[in-house]
Amino acid sequence: CGIVGYVGAKSASEVVVEGLRRMEYRGYDSAGIAIAADGRLAVAKKSGKLANLEAAIAEQPLPDAGTGIGHTRWATHGAPNDVNAHPHVADSGRVAVIHNGIIENFMSLRAELEGAGIHFLSQTDTEVVAHLLGAELDGGADLAGAMRAVCRRLEGAFTLVAVDAEDPGTVVAARRNSPLVVGLGEGENFVASDVAAFIEHTREAVELGQDQLVVITADSWTVTDFAGEPAACKPFRVEWDLSAAEKGGYDWFMRKEIFEQPKAVADTLLGRLGEDGELVLDEVRISTDELRRIDKIIIIACGTASYAGLVAKYAIEHWTRIPCEVELASEFRYRDPIVSPSTLVVAISQSGETADTLMAIRHAQQQKAKVLAICNTNGSTIPREADAVIYTHAGPEIAVASTKGFLTQVVACYLLGLYLAQVHGTKFGDEIKAVLAELEALPGQIQHVLDSTTDQARELAQELVDAPSVLFLGRHVGYPIALEGALKLKELAYIHAEGFAAGELKHGPIALIQDRLPMFVVVPPRGRDMLHDKVVSNIQEVRARGARTIVLAELDDSEPRPYADTLIRLPSVSTLLQPMLAIVPLQVFACELATLKGHDVDQPRNLAKSVTVE
Ligand code: G6P
Repeated sequence: CGIVGYVGAKSASEVVVEGLRRMEYRGYDSAGIAIAADGRLAVAKKSGKLANLEAAIAEQPLPDAGTGIGHTRWATHGAPNDVNAHPHVADSGRVAVIHNGIIENFMSLRAELEGAGIHFLSQTDTEVVAHLLGAELDGGADLAGAMRAVCRRLEGAFTLVAVDAEDPGTVVAARRNSPLVVGLGEGENFVASDVAAFIEHTREAVELGQDQLVVITADSWTVTDFAGEPAACKPFRVEWDLSAAEKGGYDWFMRKEIFEQPKAVADTLLGRLGEDGELVLDEVRISTDELRRIDKIIIIACGTASYAGLVAKYAIEHWTRIPCEVELASEFRYRDPIVSPSTLVVAISQSGETADTLMAIRHAQQQKAKVLAICNTNGSTIPREADAVIYTHAGPEIAVASTKGFLTQVVACYLLGLYLAQVHGTKFGDEIKAVLAELEALPGQIQHVLDSTTDQARELAQELVDAPSVLFLGRHVGYPIALEGALKLKELAYIHAEGFAAGELKHGPIALIQDRLPMFVVVPPRGRDMLHDKVVSNIQEVRARGARTIVLAELDDSEPRPYADTLIRLPSVSTLLQPMLAIVPLQVFACELATLKGHDVDQPRNLAKSVTVE
């Protein structure tokens, strides 16, 4: 969910709605707003996208006042309808609250409140907070005191933002686990789940810590803990500007982000390659001695980030000779993983807020593992809790489906692998130098792939727009690319798509093949081993059974040509670098197909970009 609060001289409804627009990628099941004016609250909320709320406000304008809160929702408790949309208001009508996260003990709190005669309107966990706040205010507390008292009773993950009709120049926000930043302006202040919400007004921000509460007025901000004691928090300046959070002439953020990939990769590499070819990673706050003692690596992540981890496993094990596992964060968290102080847990997360990944990190830290985060979002929770961080400098990624996030995650993992190889003194000195040179050339090659394959991917999408199912095959580092290619298509085009390891084809998936079933195959470069030939054989096998083959292969590789209905040419690079090129036409294909189907590419149904609930 995305939340925003404002106090200042501007029109709060305009500032809040604009903030919600910039955060809509965080959830878009429903949206709502509350404005405090003239001793009362004006509330508007609507199911569906933000546009529905805007239409409702246009029809019935909100009062012109300087204090407001707003919410865009990704439903957890209760269907995404008007009633369940936030804000929720106490029985007295005096206080409105919005919430991101899950309140785990809401059932017992609700039973208690209902027992006391309070009537609930919604199915949400949030409404209990509205009534609890209402009761505290009725008992004489001010809004901050009420919020503290209520937070002490709540279990789970939450960020709450509230306004009180009787104290209209104040917004109070509290944070446990779910993200919250404070924006500091001139004669105005903001709270939001993401700096994007206020970047057009100010770049000065403060990151709120765990179990902290902030009170903002137009010209003050005060941070305390839930007991009311002053608390330390971390100010920072947002480095990117508004244009990074706008579409800049593209129809979709996703398309813009796909085309930003050469720059995103170049920025991620910037300053990390020393003149002597040595790697410079100054954000790794784990000592070299500690790194030398690492004897096991576990990569944890969700969704696309987990596929970046799968690609990285091949490279990291090859270069470092340290065993490297990749596990979905949500699985890691609830089993009994073998973790020790000599384990390095690498948590990959574009947003830095994914609750599954955050919980997995804490699980690992309890067992004394060192945690290194690979993250794209400065000031987010995961890098703050990790022992070390490598930032992917991709700039804000706004489309829900990750593209430049993925590519830069692979690059950052590779840098980590190469760094560990150096620290561990493995015997791959020459190979490391060669890889570094290849990485430097990568942005140009990604640009070349964009220039030379985008039209082809678009034509392919036109041809396959009605395909009920699409399969993807890959082997070695091409296997996670098959998985990611399929995920993009599921997320965006809502069609059945699956990725397989090419060698597994004969053990089951081959039964799926029937006439003209589209099948993408990523062919490894002709290199030092047999991989290439094996995959070329797989193409023949699927073609013989009627598949329509779309083959991604090296520029001058003529071997797959006779078996390819479509051949997508990739620049020649080493096996480990190829995934970063092969994924690009698959991203474009998914974006084009979804566009042709008339879907909202940036905000696919049922999804959200930062899933801050487990
Ligand atoms: C959500 C998004 C996915 C993303 C995953 C992990 O499910 O819809 O696109 O890959 O979260 O996100 P993260 O921010 O942790 O990389």
